[in-house]
Amino acid sequence: MSRLAYACLAPAEPRGYAALRAWLVDRIKRKALRRLHANPRGERLVLRMYLAAEDATERALQEELLPQSPAWLTRQLNRHLADERRHVALFVDALRAAGDDADNRLAPDWLSRRKIAQWDRLARRYASRFAQGVLVPVYATGLCAEQMATRVLTRHCDVLGGGHALYPLFASVLADERRHVRLCETTLRRMVAPGEAATLAALMREIRAIEASFALTGAVAIYLASWAIRPLTLARTRTRPDARPNRHRHGTP
Ligand SMILES: [Fe+2]
Ligand SMILES: [Fe+2]
Repeated sequence: MSRLAYACLAPAEPRGYAALRAWLVDRIKRKALRRLHANPRGERLVLRMYLAAEDATERALQEELLPQSPAWLTRQLNRHLADERRHVALFVDALRAAGDDADNRLAPDWLSRRKIAQWDRLARRYASRFAQGVLVPVYATGLCAEQMATRVLTRHCDVLGGGHALYPLFASVLADERRHVRLCETTLRRMVAPGEAATLAALMREIRAIEASFALTGAVAIYLASWAIRPLTLARTRTRPDARPNRHRHGTP
């Protein structure tokens, strides 16, 4: 496949309304994250939301992707699965350290379930259009989800700043998710035949349109959750002994 055909794998720079929506989502989520991290219950909710997402990813890899993967993908998938299991363990440990037993796990929220259901329908619709079948739309959706995780975690690390006690956890997961983006891209380049490039581009557009249609509602839901949790303390963050002030705090509310 030509370099141009690979271009659809990278997220397009948003323009017009899409750019405004992306800006709004980012501002709303930054405000919500600051409120949530300002009290222990909010911080535990943040960790539980991440744990729910990592749990769901681990299950999808284990129960849906591994059983239908060809032999050449199995080793790579097992390494990916090990990463996602490590993420689950890291968030469980963080929750326990924050005083939550992490036994009662959150199920993916209603919005996430709706989005996944739409992605599943799209995967079934596109499966017959690729020689490798449903694996292509499944990996394309996986790529989009890993890119989203990278964006979400990059913002989260930026909001926390390097001095926050939870920064190393989020930064470590972010490094893995960046690697998963590269892994999904490489796998798609290997699976998609040159004659299927235009179909892949159309599929990527539809996957991203579904994701974008939930973005603002998701941001508002997190913002409302940050207000629903009454602050127990004033904005007081847990910091490591060598904490430095958040260099990104200025210029943001
Ligand atoms: Fe993960
Ligand atoms: Fe991942």
